[in-house]
Amino acid sequence: MRKIVVQLQAGTQGRRVRHLLFWFLAETTQKKIVVAIDGPAGAGKSTIAKGLAARLGFTYIDTGAMYRAVALWAVRQAVDPGDMHRMEQLAIAAGIELSPGHIALNGEDVTDAIRTPEVSSGASKIAVIPGVRRAMVAKQREIGERTSVVMEGRDIGTVVFPNAQVKVFLDANPDERVRRRCEEMRAKGETVNAEQLAAQMKERDQRDSTRADAPLAQAPDAIYLDSTALGIEEVIESILKIVRSRVTNGREYC
Ligand code: DC
Repeated sequence: MRKIVVQLQAGTQGRRVRHLLFWFLAETTQKKIVVAIDGPAGAGKSTIAKGLAARLGFTYIDTGAMYRAVALWAVRQAVDPGDMHRMEQLAIAAGIELSPGHIALNGEDVTDAIRTPEVSSGASKIAVIPGVRRAMVAKQREIGERTSVVMEGRDIGTVVFPNAQVKVFLDANPDERVRRRCEEMRAKGETVNAEQLAAQMKERDQRDSTRADAPLAQAPDAIYLDSTALGIEEVIESILKIVRSRVTNGREYC
């Protein structure tokens, strides 16, 4: 087996075959593998989780986008985020579909519409409502039971999948997190006020980590990774090492 693995290591073709082997391993053992990535805004979760899912051949799930979709619907319907009952109803009724790089709400592509500051803040506000969280967690568990996933969010390792095979708490220092968010927004051609953004992110992190239901927290068995001084590939490689040690007995299928 070692010989085959070594031969498969070179080139894109090798990577594809290794994907297949890894997928085969996951499928034949009937085990759906969950890689949970939690952490605050701007820690690099999306970039890392997307890259990791591509390397593993798993489905990438951005749970923040799901809360954002519900928040967007509430804004459009002029529902008060403080109306817990109505918000829960919206969350249960929301038809959310995730596909690579896109999210649809009730059949409409809302990939860009959910990225406004208003929706960012709204998502964090409605995420404190237990009924909204119950509805989102049920949808997330359903996906994770169907297929192997790399799922990112705030409560994946603590609440959604407490038995996830791999849990990572991804962090970075606050200045670096703001810098990354600014860069991301500028790259999209948006005008950014760094001070305002820093204040908004601080407020959101504060609310996300102090709410009563499923606050942002590191699961006791999660590995803490500080990405402040690390490149994307370095972080992905360190997580892949963890996946190998937990899922493939150290073999380099991915
Ligand atoms: O990851 P994000 O910034 O797109 O998430 C938007 C908001 O959704 C975030 O401020 C808190 C909430 N959220 C949550 O409460 N639980 C999750 N698993 C994911 C996001």
